[in-house]
Amino acid sequence: MTSGGRTGSKRTKDGAGNPSRVQAGVVGMGLMGTSIVACLLGAGHRVAAIEKGAARRRTAPQRLLHLLQDASARGLIAGAPSALMDRFTVSADFHALHGAAIVVESTVEDAATKRQVLAAIEAAVSRRTLIGSNTSAIPVTELQRGAAHPERILGLHWAEPAHITRFMEVICGRGTSPSSAQRAMRLARQWGKEPSLVRKDIRGFISNRMMYALLREAFYLVERGFATVADVDRSLRNDLGYWITFAGPFRFMDLTGIPAYAAVMKDLLPELSCATQVPRLMRKVVKSGARGVSNAKGFYRYTPAQARQWEERFVKFSHEIRELAGRYPEGSRTGEFRRRGARVSA
Ligand SMILES: NC(=O)c1ccc[n+]([C@@H]2O[C@H](COP(=O)([O-])OP(=O)(O)OC[C@H]3O[C@@H](n4cnc5c(N)ncnc54)[C@H](O)[C@@H]3O)[C@@H](O)[C@H]2O)c1
Repeated sequence: MTSGGRTGSKRTKDGAGNPSRVQAGVVGMGLMGTSIVACLLGAGHRVAAIEKGAARRRTAPQRLLHLLQDASARGLIAGAPSALMDRFTVSADFHALHGAAIVVESTVEDAATKRQVLAAIEAAVSRRTLIGSNTSAIPVTELQRGAAHPERILGLHWAEPAHITRFMEVICGRGTSPSSAQRAMRLARQWGKEPSLVRKDIRGFISNRMMYALLREAFYLVERGFATVADVDRSLRNDLGYWITFAGPFRFMDLTGIPAYAAVMKDLLPELSCATQVPRLMRKVVKSGARGVSNAKGFYRYTPAQARQWEERFVKFSHEIRELAGRYPEGSRTGEFRRRGARVSA
């Protein structure tokens, strides 16, 4: 959500011109949909949101205003929050998406629901409208099944809070056209993101595959009694947490000496967990009704006040880490392979 979208460029046919002239749509005004709308409004789009829940529709403007006020106070958006709110509508009627050049689906993580929602979007928009699903891990090809125009459907994977984070993965399903992927990459940059392109569909994409590999090992260490939940968290925060915003794993190996990693891999990889079931501890915690800080029940105990404080601290930290990371840009164009599977330019 930077000034990238307010440079006054003319509208282009692909809907990646000046965002103020490009209508956007978002389906699902839950946690993520709300911050996605905040990002799109901040970038200059008009946004029509679709939400099936009456209570969520009623509370959407207030939740959104809160995010915009926060972003404005931190200098992340140029326009006044109240003026941006004038460019937002919410309803249960998919016809409101008519005229949108880009629609983001952000409903529940269920393939059948998402396919139904995508069909409803396709019925409401023009055949050139780009449609991005904010799925966390469903292969995009599964979502394209039965679509009228699969070539314009792709994964658009955001990170919460979407109006602050720079993360975005643009994922090509089997039917996605290269031009749709390029349109999405251009839009993502206008939204202030540093997008990665996932060229071939794979469940979990990039960051979630890495994250879940890490979660599997974290559960393994706790369930086998090697460490407590708090010990695992502390180690990760103080090791990986100190460099991962600065360098990804490959840059980090460049920075710290490559051969040692090869030596460790040889002995360690065969010992890492390869479990394929949801961990016992995870099943138990879910069964207890724990949802994390949102209901003050999780892997840790919280009073309601402590849970609220963790939520607020997380938002504050997201702003601060964004500022810090912004001072250390990648320093070069990324993702340009010299040869297939070989090094990228530094
Ligand atoms: N929460 C995260 O940090 C995060 C991160 C990345 C991706 N995602 C993905 O984003 C999506 C949304 O996640 P969330 O955390 O915002 O969920 P959420 O439950 O907070 O919100 C989902 C919203 O979609 C609405 N909805 C459901 N079916 C609908 C329909 N047919 N039409 C209109 N609205 C409908 C629900 O009423 C709800 O308001 C999921 O696919 C999730 O995996 C979430």
